[in-house]
Amino acid sequence: MTPSSIEPGVSGTKQVPGTSPYTLGKELHTPSDTGQWWRRAVIYQIYPRSFKDSTGSGMGDLAGITAELPKIATLGVDAIWLSPFFDSPQRDAGYDVSDYRSVDPLFGTLDDAQNLIDTAAGHGIKTIIDIVPNHCSNEHALFKAALAAAPGSAERAMFHFADGTGVGGNTPPNNWSSLFGGPGWTRITESDGSPGQYYFHLFDATQPDFNWRNPAVEAEFEATLRFWLDRGAGGFRIDVAHAMFKKEGMPDWHGAPDGTPTPGFPFAEAPMYGQPELHTVFARWREICEQYPGEPVLCSEANARPLTRLADWVAPGQMHQSFNFDYLRTLWDRDALAAVIGESLAAFDTVGAPTTWVLSNHDVSRHATRFGLDGVALDLGDGIGPRDPQPDEELGQARARAATLFMLGLPGGAYLYQGEELGLGDHTTLEDRYRQDPGFLRTNGAKTGRDGCRIPLPWVHDAPAAGFSPTGESWLPQPAGWAGFSRDLQEEDPASTLNLYRRALGLRSELGLGLGSLAFYTNPALPEVLAIRNGDTVNVLNLSGTAVPLPRGELLLCSDAAGTADAAAGWLGPNSAAWLRTLEAAGDAAGDEENV
Ligand code: BGC
Repeated sequence: MTPSSIEPGVSGTKQVPGTSPYTLGKELHTPSDTGQWWRRAVIYQIYPRSFKDSTGSGMGDLAGITAELPKIATLGVDAIWLSPFFDSPQRDAGYDVSDYRSVDPLFGTLDDAQNLIDTAAGHGIKTIIDIVPNHCSNEHALFKAALAAAPGSAERAMFHFADGTGVGGNTPPNNWSSLFGGPGWTRITESDGSPGQYYFHLFDATQPDFNWRNPAVEAEFEATLRFWLDRGAGGFRIDVAHAMFKKEGMPDWHGAPDGTPTPGFPFAEAPMYGQPELHTVFARWREICEQYPGEPVLCSEANARPLTRLADWVAPGQMHQSFNFDYLRTLWDRDALAAVIGESLAAFDTVGAPTTWVLSNHDVSRHATRFGLDGVALDLGDGIGPRDPQPDEELGQARARAATLFMLGLPGGAYLYQGEELGLGDHTTLEDRYRQDPGFLRTNGAKTGRDGCRIPLPWVHDAPAAGFSPTGESWLPQPAGWAGFSRDLQEEDPASTLNLYRRALGLRSELGLGLGSLAFYTNPALPEVLAIRNGDTVNVLNLSGTAVPLPRGELLLCSDAAGTADAAAGWLGPNSAAWLRTLEAAGDAAGDEENV
């Protein structure tokens, strides 16, 4: 494709690159340069089960992660976040913890964890530990003690135990349900064999919720935080942080019984979320983190709305960061993206916290898959299965690269999910018999669940299980064609997604984009182009299916390697993004901000 052969994004008008009127708006966000590492950090999520198996069991492990840290280091990330690797019956892939201060033998030993943290530190990478304070496993010693103890005991008071209502106490204490589907209460049999009390679980029945109104629960978690901080943890990702406290008395809720927002029943009022007491715990945890060197961070996983509410939990003295799920949920839509960026910066700037950006994680279809499905909204917990419409892989890949490049040019922190740097999408044809997600199991398959975004990574194209494990074992099967995404092939290929990520992360750091500013450009002739200025960098995302003229500037990077020459000549191809250095920064006195 040569520049002269490209039709511009506006039908009927042929534009000359550099003359399309992009007008710069006012700055919505000014640079923050406090020297605090987490304000601009890029954090790479490792899902230990699926990263690298060093033993041949088919399950990824800590030694496998440690061995590959040099490769992670070449990406140029500031920290890794490890999804849970603690002792667990693995009913929710480790988010059902039976001992927070241990390592599940599936993944290795405490020494392996220490070695991982130390080796990562040697590469200048911090290790963020995933703490699950809302609930534990039903095999945790505290829950077993609660089952063995009598109603009304101190042991039961660690959890939400309550008598049923109605005839024979056969009706659960309230109408709340599980986020994984089905009832939120499970009735136990007391030790004398009689039908007993109920306990509450926001997730699976094997994940009883702690009673955070009990100070003994808080003490338990303080000890856990210190346990990992003493071992050099760089901070914590706090699982379902917004659900830890339930409204006093746990009243019925007349919105969606799992608390998800519905018309007339906003999230902000749901009694299982966002209670004011959270502030006290977050403040105490911040104090604890501040007693340790290296500014350990607290990242809140609060899938909460609106953004202003989320921001409240990262106000001064609270947590440091929060995942921005509104950004992750946004479809391939210019105006929706512009709106969420503006709203995010406004909400987080108000409290002086960095905004974070994220496109994929272990709970949602990967963005290479989502963006290959035009206009389909997939919420957390949903996946794609063989009976669903299948994504357009090539389109998804192109858009995913563009979306990531654009995201990494925004000011604030960013989260990456293992494998996205290889361009991986989901396994979208995984057969039901392999599925393990409790969301799938509890709904008898009505929800596809999250297994498809958790497939073991491909490392070596011509090795069994694409090099994930030495034996070729793999706890979930890899889809056909997976080996083609292997890291070894991408290392060699300058046009690979892996090398795009490396270059983008290197430039982001060099140009200080994470601590930068933001102003939008507008160009009424190009309604599907999103362009921003961050310091001296112009960041353009073309969401349309045709090439569009770029603002003037010196090309730094294009998401589509094959489109780079065109981008350098002023044309950005379809479903692509580019970073440019402004003309004045490039030393061209003719730079004209009014008409770039
Ligand atoms: C985690 C999920 C997990 C759930 C229950 C989430 O937010 O990210 O993977 O199933 O919490 O712990």
